[in-house]
Amino acid sequence: MAHFTFEDREVFYEEQGSGPAVVFLHAFPLSSAMWARQLASTSANFRAIRLDFPGFGQSKPAAAPVSIELYARATLALLDKLEVRAAAFVGLSMGGYVALAIHARAPDRVAALILCDTRANGDSPEARQGRETTAQAVETQGVQILAERMLPNLLSKGASEQVRRQVEQMISQSSAQGAAAALRAMALRSDHTRVLPRISCPTLVLCGTQDILTPPAESKGLANALRQSSYVELEGAGHLSNLEQPQAFDQALLKFLLEGVLPA
Ligand code: MLT
Repeated sequence: MAHFTFEDREVFYEEQGSGPAVVFLHAFPLSSAMWARQLASTSANFRAIRLDFPGFGQSKPAAAPVSIELYARATLALLDKLEVRAAAFVGLSMGGYVALAIHARAPDRVAALILCDTRANGDSPEARQGRETTAQAVETQGVQILAERMLPNLLSKGASEQVRRQVEQMISQSSAQGAAAALRAMALRSDHTRVLPRISCPTLVLCGTQDILTPPAESKGLANALRQSSYVELEGAGHLSNLEQPQAFDQALLKFLLEGVLPA
């Protein structure tokens, strides 16, 4: 992976292929490693780009207080560096929060949005409190507690042992400081619900049928609130739908990118 400097810290990224840009934004508490397969499958037709947000994967935690907007700014700074004016943004869960923050900040740089297993609303007061409790536990006990607490919600009951191990490994590579900062950033994220009807770029909403964190009913609601959206459910997939049903995920993504929005 290559790196660039964003606000005094190295942010790691990778790009493959050429053509219209497609940027992959990772979930919490994983890293851009979750998009390895999609980087390969989209780079035949597109310039596929993925990055580790500060504190995840190979990127060190940020110096400044973290916000979802900071991840959005880091992503846009990477695109500036790569001289990419506009791109399609594929965000899963926390990555979807970042995609919506990028759209809020720079709608002209968003050619399309692919929102996977995510939501547009902010946290309830109870959810915020829960995040703070988890952040403190991560700071005292390490990121391992996230794997123990989150795995049953991130994956469906039918997930393979291989995927389970892959997710555990990605979580173990996150820094405790970065994960705690991200929990506090998610707690304070903006609510984009009211903006949804005004988003004018093409959008695709993807959701695993077994996703218990952002269930299909919620994702359908998200798709309905968007002006120009397609909605696809991925049979049998849990929250990390691209890892659990990669073929169906890639098929829906490529169909949308090739036929719908970004002819290569
Ligand atoms: C994620 O998968 O990124 C998280 O479930 C997002 C969240 O905790 O809201």
